[in-house]
Amino acid sequence: MTPFRLLRAVLPLLLAVPAAAQSPALPWPDPPPIAASRARVAAITTLGRDLFFDPALSASGRVACATCHDPRFGFSPANAEAVQPGGATLEQVGTRAVPSLSYAQFSPSFSEHYYESDEDGDGSVDAGPTGGFTWDGRASRARDQARIPLLAPNEMANASPAAVVTRLASGPHAAALRTLYGQDLFADPDRAFDAVLDALEVFQQDQATFAPFTSKYDAWLRGSAQLTAAEDRGRRLFEDPGKGNCAQCHISRPSGSGALPLFTDYGLVALGVPRNVAIPANRDPGYFDLGLCGPERRDLTDHPDYCGLFKTPSLRNVALRRSFFHNGVMHSLRDAVAFYVERDVAPQRWYPTDAHGVVRKFDDLPERFWENVNDEPPFGGEAGDAPRLSPAEIDDVVAFLQTLTDGYTPR
Ligand code: HEC
Ligand code: HEC
Repeated sequence: MTPFRLLRAVLPLLLAVPAAAQSPALPWPDPPPIAASRARVAAITTLGRDLFFDPALSASGRVACATCHDPRFGFSPANAEAVQPGGATLEQVGTRAVPSLSYAQFSPSFSEHYYESDEDGDGSVDAGPTGGFTWDGRASRARDQARIPLLAPNEMANASPAAVVTRLASGPHAAALRTLYGQDLFADPDRAFDAVLDALEVFQQDQATFAPFTSKYDAWLRGSAQLTAAEDRGRRLFEDPGKGNCAQCHISRPSGSGALPLFTDYGLVALGVPRNVAIPANRDPGYFDLGLCGPERRDLTDHPDYCGLFKTPSLRNVALRRSFFHNGVMHSLRDAVAFYVERDVAPQRWYPTDAHGVVRKFDDLPERFWENVNDEPPFGGEAGDAPRLSPAEIDDVVAFLQTLTDGYTPR
């Protein structure tokens, strides 16, 4: 059960508490402490929001979480650079595209062997590596994840947790941190750093901010909007197993219990996207970002079958993004869609050609890992075959993806 579904299952119980409060089996006294804990969550959410937007969390004083995760772009960068600048003087850049944070809160913890709930699929099938935060799933919770940018030399570049805490202790968030986590908080830098991570995590679970489910597609699912003809054609192509087959990984239908779809199954899959020459690390021909098997992730390096695998992102708010895929190699949504149907039938459009005129397909993956690359529909076919989607059909899929942007107001 994903946290989201868990919440859906548990929330009615919580709300039903007053009626059941007489029961001696309940672990809390009467009345239940729910109002106080709600107020605390609200206060931590406000603190987490303030921290998320504050560049004082970085060594340079110029990079906030929101610098890379801009709310106007589904919490992804405002610019179209594949990788973002960071570091003490903003002269270093990352090696991966910044993922959107919208709907990221529902990611299950990483598992090498993931079984869906029976209600949502076949509970007996091992879906393989699934879940976790970041493109390789290496952080199990948002609080572990936040540690990475705060301390990464090419991101917020703090020398240590204590360096962050020392700055915060004399800054505008100190009072709120003390009130919420203890007056003696700053006496213990590790505890204070954990409080910062906690507040950032709680903020990132705020549904109104990160998961409002207010797209046109949500309105359509609720029966309060109609898709245009192009959007509806796109929806069918997205779901048709013989055409786009996108919904196989980017789930588009409500779950058995009625939870709205998140447009990902969180699976880690190798798509063989082209190498991005715009990433400085890629100037070294021996450097490869292999995702699940490293180099950022270090616990599964002895798994050659995991090399090249990256996490399936949610496609909610994808039309707000300006770079696509883990290495940000594409900059238009149309290209991202076209890549799927042309990768195998027109590889020359996506990969470089060598001096002998041979297309260097899967140029971002050493040849020994090519067998990991997914070749089910919409992939597959031989060079020269017709792609599974025509140019007009690709436009329709893009029109459909544009219905996944939050903030739609029904007429
Ligand atoms: C310099 C740009 C930059 C800054 C600043 C930054 N991030 Fe990120 N963020 C990234 C990149 C790049 C990734 C993908 C990392 C990877 O896959 O290894 C990422 C990934 C994430 C993810 C995982 C999302 C998912 O769906 O798996 C979360 C959550 C996140 N960042 C939260 C934060 C928070 C909280 C802060 C502030 C403490 C922050 N980020 C600051 C660039 C940034
Ligand atoms: C086999 C599973 C699978 C199928 C089928 C699939 N995708 Fe994906 N999708 C992924 C994975 C995995 C990634 C990330 C891969 C990477 O970055 O290396 C991704 C990334 C994307 C992105 C980039 C999102 C971002 O935030 O950068 C878009 C857009 C996208 N897919 C659209 C589609 C469309 C449209 C289809 C159908 C034509 C489709 N996908 C079919 C697994 C799948």
